[in-house]
Amino acid sequence: MSADTSIFESINSIKKEIETFSITDAESLEQFRIKFIGSKGIIKNLFSQIKDISPERKKEFGQTVNAVKQLAEQKFADKQSVNSSNSKKQKTDIDLSAPGVPTALGSRHPLSIVRNQIIDIFGRIGFTISEGPEIESDWNNFSALNMPEHHPARDMQDTFFVQQDPDMVLRTHTSSVQVRVMENTKPPIRTISPGRVFRNETISARAHCIFHQVEGLYIDEKVSFADLKQTLYYFVQELFGNDIEIRFRPSYFPFTEPSAEMDITCLICKGEGCPVCKKTGWVEILGCGMVDPNVLDNCKIDSSKYTGFAFGMGIERITMLKYRIDDIRLFFENDVRFLRQFSSAI
Ligand code: DAH
Repeated sequence: MSADTSIFESINSIKKEIETFSITDAESLEQFRIKFIGSKGIIKNLFSQIKDISPERKKEFGQTVNAVKQLAEQKFADKQSVNSSNSKKQKTDIDLSAPGVPTALGSRHPLSIVRNQIIDIFGRIGFTISEGPEIESDWNNFSALNMPEHHPARDMQDTFFVQQDPDMVLRTHTSSVQVRVMENTKPPIRTISPGRVFRNETISARAHCIFHQVEGLYIDEKVSFADLKQTLYYFVQELFGNDIEIRFRPSYFPFTEPSAEMDITCLICKGEGCPVCKKTGWVEILGCGMVDPNVLDNCKIDSSKYTGFAFGMGIERITMLKYRIDDIRLFFENDVRFLRQFSSAI
């Protein structure tokens, strides 16, 4: 028997081996691959024996080995796809046609929605956000803001005192953050301070002992009342729409001089006069004014060089106007029937 013949015979037995090799799982599949088609496998080895074949049978040899190679590769591919679909089947052994279990999506609280809108509107004209603690020193909440002890203006805000000597209060307004910012920052300052505030109020449809404010502060050289008006006009139109007008009424706050309260066109009757605006066509939304030079000096800002304006608004009040909510208590009751109504707002 020639050397050629014995190689051809061994190819035949390899072919049989490939056909009968039992592949039942991923492990035997891998064994098959290594044994026959791997880089050190039998078929590779067969190809390398071509040099021992007599020239006239080289072609036949090549074709035979190629056929065996194809046989092995085909078997491997077939078993591989069966194997992977089997393992997929195991992983997804569930009824994919069954209807899904709905996941209840929450919604943002209306106060958060409006607070975020306010932050966004002022952010677009360069106002940063500043925050401060809810428990404040008497100085930051009152004295630095031109309300020394026994000043009658303190009566405007019925206060929760949490400690005496030194006096600590639950902040009655976010104007306290103004003081912190001014004491720690060099002008120009352009910032808003959203946050929770507390007053000893009897809870009713219009008042609550906890509510939220956004304070605004702008300090630089030559800041005027015209800047205040234009800034607030921009704010109102962004939040409520272009057809809303504003008006200022002289008022009093200890920390601003001059001071004003700002009204906007009543959103319900568009200025015609209705019960909500008490037939005036206007509703009040915030207090504002030029920062009193005493307050600048208290906070170590040179009042001969710098001027500024400040304003403060209640987020509940704005939200009630925007969404026609007639009872402030709804914000704090966590009644999902109320909260769900804001699920499409962002
Ligand atoms: N802090 C005032 C309040 O809670 C609101 C306010 C009015 C803030 C005028 C200001 C301001 O900054 O200039 O009633």
